[in-house]
Amino acid sequence: MTTPKTSTAPIRNAVDATTHADPYPWYAELRRNAPLFFDPTLKLWIASSAAAVSAVLAHVDCRVRPAHEPVPPGLVGGAAGEVFRQLVRMNDGTRHDEPKLVLERALGDVDLVRLGQRVAALARDDGPFRAPAPPWADALNETLFRLPLYAVADLLGFMPQDLPQLATWMRDFVACLSPLSTPVQLGAAHEAAAALLRRFEDLLANSVRSRGATDCTSLVSRVQAHAAQTGWADRQALLCNLIGLLSQTFDATAGLLGNAVVALATRPDLLAELPAHPQARRDTARLLVEEVCRLDPPIQNTRRFVARDMELAGRLLRAGDTVLLLLGSANRDAALNARADEFLLQRAQRKYFSFGRGSHACPGQQIALTIAASALASWLPATPSPLPQPTHLQALTWTYRPSVNARIPCFDLATST
Ligand code: HEM
Repeated sequence: MTTPKTSTAPIRNAVDATTHADPYPWYAELRRNAPLFFDPTLKLWIASSAAAVSAVLAHVDCRVRPAHEPVPPGLVGGAAGEVFRQLVRMNDGTRHDEPKLVLERALGDVDLVRLGQRVAALARDDGPFRAPAPPWADALNETLFRLPLYAVADLLGFMPQDLPQLATWMRDFVACLSPLSTPVQLGAAHEAAAALLRRFEDLLANSVRSRGATDCTSLVSRVQAHAAQTGWADRQALLCNLIGLLSQTFDATAGLLGNAVVALATRPDLLAELPAHPQARRDTARLLVEEVCRLDPPIQNTRRFVARDMELAGRLLRAGDTVLLLLGSANRDAALNARADEFLLQRAQRKYFSFGRGSHACPGQQIALTIAASALASWLPATPSPLPQPTHLQALTWTYRPSVNARIPCFDLATST
């Protein structure tokens, strides 16, 4: 029997829902009865319908940070706080627009076919992800995080020997982005941020030295070139946002890959639909990860902070209020997609909010989808493979890692194989 072990107890609130075994019927109730309502216990407005989520994401006075608190108090004064303060993800206005344009253009230059081949090479037996020895559920859990991180670090221009250390620092750094982190974890996040700043400084310096000589095509070189063209000259902000590319990749892409494994484990018919021909298999894997993005997204919610009193979807929101946008719920709104609760590989005009919308929309969407699809396509036929083979998939159980917004499964085996 293939099952999540995560609690099936009643959902207490919209944050709880993120890591619940099946939050989707609960989301549907919200959309039906209260698409935008104030939860007095969480002290948050909850937006669950596609219309409410769209309206908030499009509103110029719904900001990504509270006006009085650009950096969470626990991070102020340390290196992690400095990185956080500079991220495009955490800024609106000029500190967002110029760097965002640069990142969008540089990420838009990435050769996705080459990236897919690189991911396949990383995932192949002779790469660092060669078939793990038992217990492979642990190895799979590790690979979900490391493979996407290695792929983006490789794009940036890091050398293979740098990758394991980068993964360790990134694991420590991303803890600072979660309100669930302990003081010890925050201390480690500051140390990791300081180390990452030094390491990225070296990468930038080397990239400048080698420009025109060996490698003009690394992502770091492309970011530098677009920054020079647009006149974005803040070197510290550039460094922090390069780190941001890895941190935005880390949890979210692990969640996408993990939720794709969950989809395969719970829908054995999907495996039968995977064609044998390599290109057709890659195309089907791509459809699969896109449908997973829509149906069971790795980032279940995001927040906006109201800067001015406003009326939204017939409700009055006050300056200082916070809105929790349930992306995972809005994706299943019948107003957005027909047969919205069904898993359909072939879906005309698939629509989803999983990569955000509007000015803060994710510039890494194509990269994330390429990495996840290529990893899945390479794992499935491989023997041995980081992914359990079909019979083993049936033996998987999973819980979701503690998080207020990310849905990332952590796998185990029901029985030894
Ligand atoms: C499955 C993987 C991913 C998911 C689900 C995801 C999702 C998101 C979402 C929902 C946002 C918007 C948050 C908001 O508006 O509140 C976002 C922003 C962002 N993402 Fe991604 N992302 C993924 C992978 C990546 C990758 C691989 C990169 C870069 C290589 C990346 C770079 C960024 C950046 C820089 C932003 C900030 C954009 C801004 O604030 O203007 N993401 N992502």
